[in-house]
Amino acid sequence: MNDILTHAEAGVMTITFNRLERKNSITSAMYAALADALDKAASDPAIRVAVLQGHETVFSAGNDIGDFLNQPPAGEDSPVFRFLRGIAKFPKPLVAAVCGPAVGVGTTLLFHCDLVFAGDNAAFSLPFVNLGLCPEAASSLLVPQMFGYHRAAEALLLGEPFMAEAALEAGLVNRVLPPTEANAYAQAQARKLAAKPLSSLVETKRLMKLGQQGPVMERMQQEGASFSRMLREPAAREAFTAFMEKRKPDFSKV
Ligand code: COA
Repeated sequence: MNDILTHAEAGVMTITFNRLERKNSITSAMYAALADALDKAASDPAIRVAVLQGHETVFSAGNDIGDFLNQPPAGEDSPVFRFLRGIAKFPKPLVAAVCGPAVGVGTTLLFHCDLVFAGDNAAFSLPFVNLGLCPEAASSLLVPQMFGYHRAAEALLLGEPFMAEAALEAGLVNRVLPPTEANAYAQAQARKLAAKPLSSLVETKRLMKLGQQGPVMERMQQEGASFSRMLREPAAREAFTAFMEKRKPDFSKV
C-alpha cells in the first residue's frame, strides 16, 4: 500500500499520510513522494489548493527513526530537504488537517501552511533537543516569530507536547474541531478557496510572505547543515537507539 496517497478533485490536491502502523512516521521514500506531489500541485494549472492530512488518530510521528539511523539525509538534494523547500515555496494555498500526535516535522511543516485545522486530540511536539538534534524546517525562526521567544523556548528546549487549544491560542491553528470532522472541514475550506481566482490567491500569498522567503530558506539551510551533522553524533545515536530499544535515553556520557 502507498504510504503517501494523493487525490485530485475539484481543484484540490489532497495528500494523505497513510502509514498508520508506524504512526505515519515519514521515510525517505515518503519525503520524495511528498516533494513530487507538491511539485505537481504547484505546476498543474488544474490544482488551486493542496491539503495535507493524516488519520483522525494521528497526523505524523515525524521522521521514521530507523530510516534516519540507517540512511541519514546526505546533502541538500536529499528527499527531506527537497520536501522542506517544496513546502516553504509552495505558491498556492496549503491547508492542513491535524489530529492526534504531530511530532517534529509533523508540527514544523504546519508553520508553512496557510490554514491549519486541528482535532481536539491534536498533540504538537518539537522534541529535537530530546533527540540530540536541533530544529528544522526554519522552525528556529518561525516558532519564536509566532509564539514569542519564551513560549518558543518552552516548545523547543523542553520539547514537551502542547495541545490543540494552546496551538489555537498561539496562532498555529485556525480552528479546533472534533477529530472525526477535521479532515472534512479542511476539505470544505479548501474547496471554498479553490472556487476563488487562482491568480489572486497566489499573488495574495506571495505578498503576505514577501520578505520572509529569503530568511526562511537561509535558516533552513543553516539548520539542515547542523541537523545532518548532529544526526551522526553520539547524542542522537543514543536517543534513536533508545527509541528502538524501547528504553529511556541516557545522555550522561554525551
Ligand atoms: N519512527 C519509527 N517508528 C515509529 C515512529 C517513528 N518516528 N513513531 C512510532 N513508531 C512505531 C513504534 O516504534 C511502534 O512500533 P512497534 O509496533 O513495532 O512497537 C509503532 O510505530 C506504534 O507506535 P507507539 O509508540 O506504540 O504508538 P503510541 O500511540 O503509543 O505513540 C507517538 C505515538 C507518536 C506519540 C510515539 O510513537 C512517538 O513518540 N514516536 C516517536 C516520535 C519521534 O520522536 N519522532 C522523531 C521526530 S524527529
